[in-house]
Amino acid sequence: MTATALRLNAFGLDNLSLEQIELPAPGPNDVLVELHAASLNYRDLMTVLGTYNPRMVLPRVPGSDAAGVVTAIGSQVTNFKVGDHVTSLFFQDWYDGPILPTTGKSALGGPIDGVFSTAHLFPEGGLIHAPAGYSHEEAATLPCSALTAWNALVEKGHLSAGQTVLILGTGGVSLFALQIAKAHGARVILTSSSDEKLARGRKLGADETINYRTTPDWDIEVFKLTAKRGVDHIVEVGGAGTLPRSLKAITPGGYIYLIGVLSEPGAGVDVLPILAKAIHLDGVYVGSRGMRTRLNAAIETNHIKPIIDRVFPLTQTREALAHLQSGSHFGKIVLSLRS
Ligand SMILES: NC(=O)c1ccc[n+]([C@@H]2O[C@H](COP(=O)([O-])OP(=O)(O)OC[C@H]3O[C@@H](n4cnc5c(N)ncnc54)[C@H](OP(=O)(O)O)[C@@H]3O)[C@@H](O)[C@H]2O)c1
Repeated sequence: MTATALRLNAFGLDNLSLEQIELPAPGPNDVLVELHAASLNYRDLMTVLGTYNPRMVLPRVPGSDAAGVVTAIGSQVTNFKVGDHVTSLFFQDWYDGPILPTTGKSALGGPIDGVFSTAHLFPEGGLIHAPAGYSHEEAATLPCSALTAWNALVEKGHLSAGQTVLILGTGGVSLFALQIAKAHGARVILTSSSDEKLARGRKLGADETINYRTTPDWDIEVFKLTAKRGVDHIVEVGGAGTLPRSLKAITPGGYIYLIGVLSEPGAGVDVLPILAKAIHLDGVYVGSRGMRTRLNAAIETNHIKPIIDRVFPLTQTREALAHLQSGSHFGKIVLSLRS
């Protein structure tokens, strides 16, 4: 079988080209999927620009997140049948339990070819069913950003009703974190560079909002909003530039999830508050199949639907990545692989 795949031949947005690739017939444990939609993550932009892993071997098909329909299965496959609606898993072999030194080697669209393609051959363990009632576009948003937000707040943080969550920004990870936090009965403080995005965030359930451009001392504002207590959880997508303020905004014993690297490096991190406030500083790397199974159940029970900013055809992936780079999006950017 052949597929049309987007190949990165050299680093740079102008070095992506659509090419025909041959897919082998499924081996005993493989599943062939006709892919209908994919979604973009900030990592895909970094991968294409060469800042994610400057030593990545090229050419490479980028993309970790896609959804589609099973068209063929190997003789030993038990979890899937032809016609099933499925999504990729970010890690092709992290089933459950703790992350291992080898887990990162099975990440789609990095060390191995990804899913910006009209079809892909997966090992059975590299796929999961799409939530009931989800379109392919919706299902394609889940593998990376939704699972990262879920792993942070629920698997690591055991978020409970009445706690306060600070969420930085309104990108893919952040809006899933908002929806997951509200589904758990938490209070959400959302930040953004845009008042218009903050208004949209309030419609999605954010209780309080702060514009981090017009209020650069947003940690002080968080303190005011929490009667000087600080928040219980912070979804930290900014990295070195925002962490010093997050360390001020967190309550003693609270959880900061280190997820992203969006901000410019700051002046350096003062480690004293980490020990003096007994802060849980927890790195998050997407999540396992087991976590995704629990996320799917929560999505179906709470009727969570992803926030899709725009859908681009596969032929306009360059424009879609440039849109992501502009930071003007709200939620997820999706690629339609069939138009
Ligand atoms: N560790 C992991 O497993 C994992 C998984 C997924 C993503 N990530 C990382 O998490 C980050 C977010 O990924 P994403 O895919 O959600 O990105 P995205 O959809 O492109 O979201 C970017 C948004 O973050 C906000 N932002 C940018 N700079 C900020 C700053 N200095 N302070 C606060 N907010 C800021 C902006 O929101 P506004 O426009 O509202 O200001 C921007 O639109 C990236 O660094 C990505 O690499 C890590």
